[in-house]
Amino acid sequence: MQLIDGKATAAAIKEEIAEEVRNIVANGGKRPHLAAILVGHDGGSETYVKNKVLACEACGFTSTLIRFEDDVTEQELLAQVDKLNKDEDIDGFIVQLPLPKHISDQKVIEAIDYRKDVDGFHPINVGRMSIGLPCYISATPNGILELLRRYHIETSGKKCVVLGRSNIVGKPMAQLMMQKRVPGDATVTVCHSHSQNLKEECRNADIIIAAIGIPNFVTADMVKPGAVVIDVGTTRVPDASKKSGFRLNGDVKFDEVSPLCSFITPVPGGVGPMTICSLMKNTLAAGKKEYYQ
Ligand code: GUN
Repeated sequence: MQLIDGKATAAAIKEEIAEEVRNIVANGGKRPHLAAILVGHDGGSETYVKNKVLACEACGFTSTLIRFEDDVTEQELLAQVDKLNKDEDIDGFIVQLPLPKHISDQKVIEAIDYRKDVDGFHPINVGRMSIGLPCYISATPNGILELLRRYHIETSGKKCVVLGRSNIVGKPMAQLMMQKRVPGDATVTVCHSHSQNLKEECRNADIIIAAIGIPNFVTADMVKPGAVVIDVGTTRVPDASKKSGFRLNGDVKFDEVSPLCSFITPVPGGVGPMTICSLMKNTLAAGKKEYYQ
């Protein structure tokens, strides 16, 4: 069994990005600039956004954090999105999700100029991704592809089961794994809360990508010996031994599943660090106007 070290891979990629930014700036180019909008004080969102700002520093990007309280109106938020769309210094920006219930996530996502949508959530980016055109790809699936690439994991012709069908992870992951290039080129099955033969599907899989959001959902009886297991789960579970009072629990029962695997990602330190790294790659591409003018 080989452990896939997302933390070390992400650190190496951030250093590659920082090197490229140093070259861009040395040659008179513009330092990439990412803005993030954070609404409210949800603990998870605060942590994610803080880590995104720190990653910007590590990569040599400029970052701007814009905060609103929970009672911000949809109209005020849309006005801020419009401002960032028009701000020529901002190369890309994100609106941290979820938003308060009185605001439509989808309406806000669709208000973002797709050319600055470094989260890859806008329908134009989702559509372009699904037909293999250059675009911003959602960070978590793209981070997983990068791990598969860097660990030389064969995907062509393999049977891949994606657990979960969220717009952010499951759906784009399935699309990417079936694309006609590698990593990808796999035979993909998507299983979800209403799948009837989920266990058997998993048992037949060469690659399992678990993004179902249920701690310890994938057990040893669901994994074929030699399978590759990618764990996207990051459920916060209470843990009195931690300073924060919680720990992150993956979707995979690691202790019993890992001995069966050829490769497996740990939680934490697997997919998580790669997600922010993918956002940094998208921001660099935005700064270089790599996909869109
Ligand atoms: N909430 C959870 N993951 C993400 C993400 O990748 N981007 C944004 N904007 N919000 C999130």
